[in-house]
Formats: sequence, C-alpha cells, structure tokens
Amino acid sequence: MKRKLLSMVLCLSVVAAMAMGCGNPKEAKNEPVKTSDAAKADDKADANDAADADDAADDAAEDTSGDEKLVVGFAQIGQESGWRDAETMSIQTYAEEHSDTIELHFADAQQKQENQIKAIKSFIEQDVDVIGLAPVVETGWDQVFAEAKDAGIPIVLLDRRADVSEDLYTTFIGSDFIEEGKMAAAEMAKLIGEEGKIVELEGTVGASAATDRKKGFDDEIAASYPNIEIIASQTGDFTRAQGKEVMESFLKSNSDIKGVYAHNDDMALGAIEAIKEAGLKPGEDIKTVSVDGVKDIFEAMAAGEANCTVECNPLLGPLFFEVAAQLKAGESVEKWVKSVDGVFTADMAAEVLPDRQY
Ligand code: AHR
Repeated sequence: MKRKLLSMVLCLSVVAAMAMGCGNPKEAKNEPVKTSDAAKADDKADANDAADADDAADDAAEDTSGDEKLVVGFAQIGQESGWRDAETMSIQTYAEEHSDTIELHFADAQQKQENQIKAIKSFIEQDVDVIGLAPVVETGWDQVFAEAKDAGIPIVLLDRRADVSEDLYTTFIGSDFIEEGKMAAAEMAKLIGEEGKIVELEGTVGASAATDRKKGFDDEIAASYPNIEIIASQTGDFTRAQGKEVMESFLKSNSDIKGVYAHNDDMALGAIEAIKEAGLKPGEDIKTVSVDGVKDIFEAMAAGEANCTVECNPLLGPLFFEVAAQLKAGESVEKWVKSVDGVFTADMAAEVLPDRQY
C-alpha cells in the first residue's frame, strides 16, 4: 500500500508534467493484403503501424523510468492454439525487452477460469499497477473484478470480453468478433456459390470469441443466404485435436458437406486432417473458412487444402503495455481499443506466407 501511495503521488506529477501530451491509444491496425501492389503498400503500412505502436509503448514505458517499474500482472488462458502462443510470446517478449521499466507477473491458467481468478487475487495481493486478463469465458468475473476495483487496480481485458458492468473494467483491447463472423459468412457464401450444406466448429463454450463469431456468422447466413444451411454446429474448444474429432463425427453422419466454418484456424487444421482421412479433398470437395491467420493455415492455403482465413491480430503486447503505462500515469483510455481485421484467401497465401510473423 505504501508503494501504491508513493506511486499515486509520482503519477500525479507525471500527469501534470505530461499535461495531456499523450493521446488515447491508437486502434490496433491489421489490414488485409489485397493485390500484389496493395500487398506491398499494406505491408509497409502494417510495419509502420507496428513501429508506431512500439514507439508509443517505448515512450509510455519510459514515462515510468524516473518512477518505479510498471508492474503488470497478466492472467493468460492457456496454450490452446497457435494464436494464443503468439499472443503470449508478444506479451512476454515485449516485457523482457523492456525489463528496465516493466515487471511482468505472468500466469498460465491452463484453460481454467478458477486459475485465472486465483491469479487475479494474487496480483491484487502483490499490489500490481495494472491487471491484464484474457477471460477464458465471459461470465463469472463480477466478484474478483470488484475486488480489484476496491484495491484501485485497473483491469485491462485483452482479446476477449467479460460480461460485467462497464465500471468493473477499464478497457478492452481486441477485435470485433461479430464482424469477423460476418466476414467469414460472406467468404463461405462466395466459395460455395451461395448454396449447400455447411458445418460449424465452435470455440470454447461461453467464450466471447466463440459466442460472437457464431452470432455474426449464423445471423449473416440466415439474413443473406437462404440457400445455405448450417446442418451441424458443435464445440471443438479452439483446439486442433477436438476440431479433428468433431469433424470426423460430422463426416460420418453427413455425406454432402460443402463447407466448414471454424471459429479458429487450429480447429480448421484439425478438420482438414479429418477430411483427408475420410478420402476427400479439403479446399476442393469441402471448402474451409476460419479465423486467426496463423502461419499453419497460410501453409495449408498455399498447398490448396484451405480456402480462407479472417485475420485476428494476436501481437498485442506493445499496445497492452502502452495502455498499462497510460493507466499507471493516470490517463484515461478508450473503453474499446479496437483491432481491425482483414480477410486472406488462398490466392494470396504464397505471397504473404514469407512475411507472416505468427
Ligand atoms: O480469443 C481469441 C481466440 O482464442 C483465437 O481465435 C483462438 O485461436 C484462441 O484460442
């Protein structure tokens, strides 16, 4: 508590000295690559955006240098997907590279909400400056968030939302999952000529990434494509193994599946294995659309075994620490720092693959 008081006094002087010099954090941009020229232009823009976020995070981290370190607790979900590993790497690498100004306390909850709650309680006891959380599911956070609020520690939600009243968390950094689902529906419709039977592999039950990607996709199909029928939809828990297992059972009970929509690339990659083992050609007999944009799906697209991915940027480390430093400095931040997602199709894969960062 002594440290917190000292920190508050120092923060006030930092805020006064900065005199609102730092604006709100920027949107996390993640534009799609469209054509070869556009690809180069977009790549440059992405590189610039990444560099900007990095510079801003550096500046923000430096703001604490005359002070004590920025102490952050982060409760990660686990290691269920390549995307999750990339997000963890982005957070840990950034903290390591800035260890002179940042102290990161990192907890891997192994897919269990109770472990994330335990981690948050321990961060509160350690009196960290900011708590970051990627909530495994949306509900069940009210009590522990209220405890953090009472202790004066801001909560930053990273990549997934929590279903709590707005005063219990400070900001959400991440994508519009409903929009991702809508984009996926439009791509699936194009791939199958706007008609036919499709199946859906859902993410973790109760996770905002699963609920919203399903809502966006299903609503768009129902509203705009009356000749497309979602004949089966089941959770594969965002993992490759369960994606494969569920696809195997879909294939056993249905002979005329034209497409599979998976809430993440890992489940799509599992489904691709199941399709091949069933003697069919993924990418041709059964089209695939998934979300994330991990390297493995680009490799599958380049090999003609996958058709489309809606990118969701996991490289959120620099932006997360930028926001955390701003909160420590007593600045206000936007309630939703939104990532902009793009769509990548198989014809772009070979060109884009060498530059994929995750
Ligand atoms: O919350 C983001 C989702 O979580 C990613 O799409 C998925 O791969 C991860 O497990």
